[in-house]
Amino acid sequence: MTQIRINKFISESGISSRRKAEELILQGRVSVNGKTISDLSFKVDAENDKVFLDGERISPKKHLYFLLNKPKGIVTTTNDEKNRKTVIDLINTKEKIFPVGRLDYDTTGALILTNDGDFSNLLTHPKHKVPREYEVKIDRQLLEEDKEKLLHGVYLKGMKGKFNHVIFQTKNNRRTIKITAVEGRNHFVKNMFNALGYTVLSLNRKSFAGIDADIPIGQYRALKKEEISGVIETYGK
Ligand code: URA
Repeated sequence: MTQIRINKFISESGISSRRKAEELILQGRVSVNGKTISDLSFKVDAENDKVFLDGERISPKKHLYFLLNKPKGIVTTTNDEKNRKTVIDLINTKEKIFPVGRLDYDTTGALILTNDGDFSNLLTHPKHKVPREYEVKIDRQLLEEDKEKLLHGVYLKGMKGKFNHVIFQTKNNRRTIKITAVEGRNHFVKNMFNALGYTVLSLNRKSFAGIDADIPIGQYRALKKEEISGVIETYGK
């Protein structure tokens, strides 16, 4: 049995925002199992209670969660003004979904798509420091002193950014690098390297929030139940 606040239930039905839902309740337009309710903190059993607005039954949308291994040459948006192919075009669903955060046009790798706004907020809010793991190829060997700068902080537009881990592919290959960051600013990884005079030649996000891009490039899968509950347990408190 999933108990949720009545205003959340209404907003998840796609009818209104949570605040607007409270107004609908106060206007006496919402009933649960035949009784008009006025208590804004009223909770409903999302699976079994019958909720009506103006006499019409409403029910929350089913939440969908996908993991896409994004290919190059695709924009991370729901609608591109230049009519280019978007990540939404790669997922076969009639439901309205959106990407959680963004990857650049030429970046590949782990991207979550969902229709659950709360879930997306958990993953994108900076205070949650959600880990992102990338494989980066740069144009020349990364100097040791620059590795230290990346780990201790580089200023981007007056705001310090840093990587949490910088690991070389092999001892002699300091151009292919695994990094972990907990920041989601646009072009963050490229800008960090650019700030030190390096160019990023390719960027692949290996995992997001600990969820690995474990499917071939261009393919997607549903998130597993334990991946969804893991995100909610880790960041939802
Ligand atoms: N950082 C970037 O520079 N680009 C991405 O796509 C993701 C992180």
